[in-house]
Amino acid sequence: MIALASDHAGFEYKERVKAILDGMNLPYRDFGTSSGDSTDYPDWGHAAAQAVSTGDCDRGILICGTGIGMSMVANKHKGVRAALCDSVSAARLARQHNNANVLTIGERLTGWECVVDIVKTFLSTPFEGGRHRRRVDKVHSLTGL
Ligand code: RB5
Repeated sequence: MIALASDHAGFEYKERVKAILDGMNLPYRDFGTSSGDSTDYPDWGHAAAQAVSTGDCDRGILICGTGIGMSMVANKHKGVRAALCDSVSAARLARQHNNANVLTIGERLTGWECVVDIVKTFLSTPFEGGRHRRRVDKVHSLTGL
């Protein structure tokens, strides 16, 4: 189950990401926003990240203008590892090395064709484990999150 969220600046991409998920036969839950009207990214990002933190959702895809605000919000939640990705390489490594469970995207900074590949890569690339697991474990043990 994929948690989706955006503010007004990420609304268009959030709606388009649904078609990618449908094509991959992946269910999703849309935590809002529901229009392009100006709104505050923490409201929507918090709701979706909390769903990942509690285990209600397995992954999250959060979109705002830059992806930065959504990344900041998501990483305040226990067990969440959010990665702002603007390339396929970043999405692949965020999964392989960081076991990222939330992808954040900047609609104003990343072209749609690239986002399609970023989303597909993020959702299909496994975590490598090994030495990376020790490092990821430290992220949580050292921060308490
Ligand atoms: C909204 O104007 C913009 O600040 C927001 O979408 C996001 O980029 C914040 O990080």
